Amino acid sequence: MRMTVVGTGYLGATHAACMAELGHQVVGLDTDQAKIERLTAGEVPFYEPGLAELMQRQIIAGRLEFTTDPARAVAGSQVVFLCVGTPQKHGEYAADLSQLHGATDTLAPLLDQPCLVVGKSTVPVGTAAALAERIRQLAPAGADVELAWNPEFLREGHAVDDTLRPDRLVIGTASGQAEKTLREVYAPLLDAGVPLLVTDFATSELVKTAANAFLATKISFINAMAEVCEAAGADVSQLSAALAYDPRIGGRFLNAGLGFGGGCLPKDIRAFMARAGELGADQALTFLREVDEINMRRRVRTVDLAREQAGGSLLGRRVAVLGAAFKPESDDVRDSPALHVAAAVQLAGAHVRVYDPQAMANAKRTFPGLSYAGSAQQAVEGAHVVLLLTEWQEFLDLDPAGLGSLVAERRVVDGRSCLDADRWRAAGWTYRALGRPRQG
Ligand code: UDX
Repeated sequence: MRMTVVGTGYLGATHAACMAELGHQVVGLDTDQAKIERLTAGEVPFYEPGLAELMQRQIIAGRLEFTTDPARAVAGSQVVFLCVGTPQKHGEYAADLSQLHGATDTLAPLLDQPCLVVGKSTVPVGTAAALAERIRQLAPAGADVELAWNPEFLREGHAVDDTLRPDRLVIGTASGQAEKTLREVYAPLLDAGVPLLVTDFATSELVKTAANAFLATKISFINAMAEVCEAAGADVSQLSAALAYDPRIGGRFLNAGLGFGGGCLPKDIRAFMARAGELGADQALTFLREVDEINMRRRVRTVDLAREQAGGSLLGRRVAVLGAAFKPESDDVRDSPALHVAAAVQLAGAHVRVYDPQAMANAKRTFPGLSYAGSAQQAVEGAHVVLLLTEWQEFLDLDPAGLGSLVAERRVVDGRSCLDADRWRAAGWTYRALGRPRQG
């Protein structure tokens, strides 16, 4: 099938390449000329394992191209995927839908043939119904242009695999024709046994928001337990491991530590609260405010641990920060807990040096006031305290004895409880982690 993918960020670029991989003829559309030029050259403008190789293969095979020209992008397309960003509004909790509205208003007037518009962006419930109406009004083909909602659940760092081997496909539509078209689009996945759920617009929008709210809640639950563990002298890592044996609870997303960040979970729970308020259902989601607050408190607690490790004051101390991305296998620093902590430690008077294996360029752009090092070793040189804030494998592989010879003092805060505490202690380090006793 011939299709257009609108927006070439993490979601759109991955979706476009994966649709080509399924055998479709795909055109990626974006307003950013520089980005389109890089993508056309087979270069992915962000770090996502496996995506560049897949993209280059599909470009060479002639199944994938990119353009900034909307008319060229949609000409002859049977399916138009909307993959633009829906960030948090500046100074508000609500989602900013301006990119989605902009894309619809640009593209709908060009749709003069029957086609299916498929929304994939994460949106407040009710958005799809309003967009369907807008498209019907603007599209020359009128009611022959239908809308379906098909939320995306991909994780950064696993985007290709999550798209080609999703846990489930969810489609919101009342139209048999739309369902038939999407069954054709995803035929190879359905043949491989991926479950498909067909529902209405509102439910399909909510599936995505509810999934992210649940994941955020799970993380904040274990982080709340970490707070209790700290007060009671218990160990949240062992608590979490023991809880995980219960299959009703499960061990995934039960890692206590610095908490969640990134371009999705924080803004999605806030947009969800804002939307529930508009709908008069705000009481149902007041717990998400707690989820958000527990999450943000972990960052404050990490700064406190750094201060304790520095002997009571961070003023004039040298602090190495290992990790800037909001999670490993990503160069994304949006709402990154690591950078938030780095900035707070600097504000408390410390000399901070940050290193991340992939996110240096984005970190420097977002936090130009911090100092950066070219390697973990360089970052820790002469440090009084080392903060490990993103659990990259490269940091897990560090030799605590070797690193110990570079620092001024062997003091580490493990913000992700990912290091082997015994090994670090054996190498002479004072090891501290959130939710875990001083010695253990
Ligand atoms: C998330 C959802 O997982 C995905 O389904 C959705 O499509 C987009 O949002 P992503 O933002 O890529 O994906 O990251 P995710 O892997 O969910 O991690 C989010 C944050 O939670 C990270 O900062 C991570 O460090 C943190 N986290 C995760 C924890 O603190 N503890 C955990 O146990 C798991």
